[in-house]
Amino acid sequence: MTKAIQGIDKETAPGGGAVAATTVTARGTEPAAGRGAALRVEGAGISFGDFRAVQGIDLDIPAGEFLCLLGPSGCGKSTLLSAMAGFIQVSEGTLTADGAPVRGPDPELGMVFQSSEALFDWLTVKQNVTFGPRMRGMSRAEQNGVADEYLGLVGLRHCADRYPGQLSGGMRQRVQIARVLANEPGVVLMDEPFGALDAQTRQVLQQETARIWSASGCTVVFVTHDIDEAILLADRVAVMTAGPAASIKSLYTVDLPRPRDESDPAALRLRNQLREDIGEEVRKAMRDQGLDDQLDREAKGA
Ligand SMILES: Nc1ncnc2c1ncn2[C@@H]1O[C@H](COP(=O)(O)OP(=O)(O)O)[C@@H](O)[C@H]1O
Ligand SMILES: [Mg+2]
Repeated sequence: MTKAIQGIDKETAPGGGAVAATTVTARGTEPAAGRGAALRVEGAGISFGDFRAVQGIDLDIPAGEFLCLLGPSGCGKSTLLSAMAGFIQVSEGTLTADGAPVRGPDPELGMVFQSSEALFDWLTVKQNVTFGPRMRGMSRAEQNGVADEYLGLVGLRHCADRYPGQLSGGMRQRVQIARVLANEPGVVLMDEPFGALDAQTRQVLQQETARIWSASGCTVVFVTHDIDEAILLADRVAVMTAGPAASIKSLYTVDLPRPRDESDPAALRLRNQLREDIGEEVRKAMRDQGLDDQLDREAKGA
């Protein structure tokens, strides 16, 4: 089911291009570099042994789109993202990037994890960022260029020689983003990347993410449980049903101008719709886990 919130219709939005990433410059709005890859998921199911985590997933993500994935905890968001990254295989259906089946990890498909434990603690910030290019045989001079460019993009050039353990949580997440971007991926997959950060840091990183996405033109699939974060960032928001055998429940188009204004009436309407939609699934998940009675008792102060 596709729902468009009242507001600007994507197809008729100024500047055309339903999903083309754009770069806002002093001169106005220009098309971004456009190196994004299209992701297509058709009838996909993922099982762990006898347990079917997700089923019947259909998602068509055009090149350059920013798609947010929302859903109750444990419904299968990370599972789906891991399949997009090639870490796990779909058990049924197909998953392709620019038409080619995703068969395993690929620098073209970059993953930013919630935990910055994903960084190599024994390498400097610069060595973390140049790890992929170095593995691919890039010369020392080219690696220096890559480090300079991507550390510059996340505002961490001055930290190149530090170790991850010497950085704040927000800075470590910036290093993760730079490390992924250094591989110049067509798709950046982000699994609740700011979930462990304080509100202020999260806000800054959200703004940086919007800017970086706009400048790079890559496709982004971003998992979050934060509705406001999704409205701030996404071209479209996909809501998943409660698991097991979770699927895509609904798909919303966020036709709001960027940078987003969260007090825009259309944004408020969308927030309410999403809250209702996800709330229904969360209640379903709680019922399945037998938690709703307990919540009722708590609400009554028992
Ligand atoms: N490697 C695994 N083996 C078995 N079950 C798993 C594995 N990974 C995830 N699951 C199960 O799949 C479901 C979805 O998990 P996950 O994708 O982590 O949810 P979410 O990211 O939406 O919170 C959960 O029930 C979880 O326990
Ligand atoms: Mg998860």
